[in-house]
Amino acid sequence: MTDISGKLVLVAGATSAAGIAVCRELASAGARVIAVGSHDERMRDLVETVPDATGMICNLAHLDEVARLGDRVHEDHGRIDGLIHLVGGWRGGGGLAGQSDEDWDFLHSRIVTTLRNTTRVFVDDLQASDAGRLALVSTTTLDRPMPGGANYAAAKAAAETWARAIANGFEKSAASASVTVFAVRALAGLETQLATEVTRLWEADAASAFFMRSILTAPEGS
Ligand SMILES: NC(=O)c1ccc[n+]([C@@H]2O[C@H](COP(=O)([O-])OP(=O)(O)OC[C@H]3O[C@@H](n4cnc5c(N)ncnc54)[C@H](OP(=O)(O)O)[C@@H]3O)[C@@H](O)[C@H]2O)c1
Repeated sequence: MTDISGKLVLVAGATSAAGIAVCRELASAGARVIAVGSHDERMRDLVETVPDATGMICNLAHLDEVARLGDRVHEDHGRIDGLIHLVGGWRGGGGLAGQSDEDWDFLHSRIVTTLRNTTRVFVDDLQASDAGRLALVSTTTLDRPMPGGANYAAAKAAAETWARAIANGFEKSAASASVTVFAVRALAGLETQLATEVTRLWEADAASAFFMRSILTAPEGS
C-alpha cells in the first residue's frame, strides 16, 4: 500500500463538479493538488472551494501551452505522481446523419487531444514516480454505441486505446505506475464516488495490474 500523502497530483479539467470533488478528496487525503482548467473565473471558484489546491490556467488542447505548463509545474512543484484527466464534453444526437464534423472536432479536441497532450508532457514523471497513476473517465457505451453517439463513442474509444498504450509502456519498463479507466453512463450523482476511487488508486500496488477498467455505478437504492 502506498501513502498518497505528499504525492503531487495534477487534475486536468478540474473545474466541473466531478473535478472539484476529486481535488477536494485528494487534498484532504494529503496529496498536493494542481488543478488545471482553461477558464479564470471557474478556477477562482475552485480554489475558493479547495484552498489547498494550486490552480493553473492552460488550454490543454494546445501542446505548446501544455509544455509550458509542464515547465512551470516542474520548476515550482517538481515531478507529478498522478495525472487525473477529466476534460470531456458531449455532443451528439440526430442519428449517424447528425454526427457533424464540427461536433467531431469539438469532441476530438476535448477528449483525445487534451489527453494526448497532457500524457506526452507528463508521462516521464509518472514513469519515474514510485507510485505513478494515470486515470481518465470514459463511458459504458463502448460495447454498444448507438448512431447518435458515434462521434462521442469513437473519441472515447480512441482515448481508451491511447491509455492502454501508456499502460503497456509502463508494463514493458516495469514502472511503478498504472493506468485506470473509470467507465460511467452518467457522472451526475457519482462525483463523490469517483473522487474516492481516484484517491484509492494509491492504495493498490501498481505492479499487480498496469491497466484497469472500472465501471462506476450508483449504489442500489440511491
Ligand atoms: N458528465 C457525464 O455524465 C459523463 C459521462 C461519461 C463520461 N464522462 C467523462 O467524465 C469526465 C469528467 O466529466 P465532466 O462532465 O466533469 O467533464 P467536463 O465538464 O466536460 O470537463 C471538465 C472540465 O474540463 C475543462 N476544460 C474543457 N476544455 C479544456 C481545455 N481545452 N483545457 C483545459 N481545461 C478544459 C472545463 O473547465 P474550464 O471551462 O474551466 O476549462 C471543464 O470544467 C470527462 O472525461 C467526461 O467525458 C462524463
